[in-house]
Amino acid sequence: MLETSSFINGKFTNSSDKKLDIKNKYTLETIARVGLASAHEIEEAITSSESAFHTYSKFTSGKRYDLLSKFLDLFIAKREELITLLISEAGKPRDYAAGEFDRCVETIRFALEETRRIGGEVVPMDFSNGSGKMAMTSRFAIGPVLGISPFNFPLNLTLHKLAPALASGCSIIIKPSPYTPQCNLLLGKLVQEAGFPDGLVNIVICENKESELLVRDERIKLLSFTGSPKIGWMLKSIAGKKKVILELGGNAAVIVDETSDIDRAAKEIAIGSFLYAGQICISTQRIFVAEKVYKEFKEKLISETSKLECGDPSKSGVMVGPIIDKVHVERIGQWIEEAKQGGAKLLLDGRSADVDHNILQPTLIENYKSEDKVCFEEVFGPVAILKEFNTEREAIDLVNDSRFGLQVGVYSNKLDFIKQCFKEIEVGALIVNSIPGFRIDNMPYGGVKDSGLGREGIKYAIDDMTDERLLII
Ligand code: SIN
Repeated sequence: MLETSSFINGKFTNSSDKKLDIKNKYTLETIARVGLASAHEIEEAITSSESAFHTYSKFTSGKRYDLLSKFLDLFIAKREELITLLISEAGKPRDYAAGEFDRCVETIRFALEETRRIGGEVVPMDFSNGSGKMAMTSRFAIGPVLGISPFNFPLNLTLHKLAPALASGCSIIIKPSPYTPQCNLLLGKLVQEAGFPDGLVNIVICENKESELLVRDERIKLLSFTGSPKIGWMLKSIAGKKKVILELGGNAAVIVDETSDIDRAAKEIAIGSFLYAGQICISTQRIFVAEKVYKEFKEKLISETSKLECGDPSKSGVMVGPIIDKVHVERIGQWIEEAKQGGAKLLLDGRSADVDHNILQPTLIENYKSEDKVCFEEVFGPVAILKEFNTEREAIDLVNDSRFGLQVGVYSNKLDFIKQCFKEIEVGALIVNSIPGFRIDNMPYGGVKDSGLGREGIKYAIDDMTDERLLII
């Protein structure tokens, strides 16, 4: 079993005797033991991050490009090791883990390309007493960044913070999810092998109380958090003057109208709702279907869902693997039971599928109430609710009847309706004829309402990690 610890100022360091056991999320065997960082190590992470920032922010864009390019090569060479870690540590089905790895390569490439494009603009000055002057803006790295990343995409969502930080000249402290620290520790090692200065990327494995020390610290200039809405908004309230970007969750909705391709919609929505046991912020949770096609769609969705293979995530072809922790298996089970007791009908009931491996199979619910948690909370599990609508107005109102607004899908071939959805649905992105879970890594990604603040997607993250400064001559 691997014994490891935080990676701070270029070395693995551990002065505390508190340990965290990391489990394989399917077999539940302990696969690693990680030492938790002490308050002293957290202070070292901040001071070394500040000092590395002062060195690195003076590097030319060309030098940063070369270092990132080396990092990309080293990352690509770790393909098999990283996919294996994603399967064991995050319980991610093999094919989906390979997909995450491939997306990571794209994410780093986007950052690499942006390194050559961080520029500014010429500002016209020939007005009133500006006449005779010229002016231009340039962007400067903001300072040490704190990235808090979740378990569900432990590599790619960390890279959405780490790669733009390195591209823009910032240092970064990563605080990974306690479920998936090894993937992140490996990133720290690769950064060092690529030749970046010590302290530029520190990976701190610590308890929540200690991570609050990082969030409160004024030497850190930006907090980029991906995780649960409850924790995200709480951290913002203690973050002081630093900028805060929050990528939180939601209860993503999809609309299927009578003009859409029902076969395609049913197939894609089955995957969009239950892939990776729904542990994705943009997993389809609420499905609204036009009354005319409701019955037909429902049958197809049940049939498509029944085809999804559940079980051991190391097997190719499996789509629905384990839930990250037993606590969540129980929580999700309770939410389903509450809805059932309140009169909801379970079209598919995936509970008690394989309790020894934390597997819940897909659960599909109709006749729910809007106050059921499976409707208004983020389930983050393999649960979707289904309801019919009679008018387009009703469909849009159903989607907006949520405190979240990350991404929404609409299956329709009516241009006017699509335009109306785009204008009226309160959301970060509307995706036409696809599931809310669609994402590529250069697009602006983020939500409104309780789903977050700001946008990721490399170029957008670089904007946040740099300040604009004006030069007038
Ligand atoms: C998320 O779960 O927040 C990210 C989803 C993705 O990147 O596909």
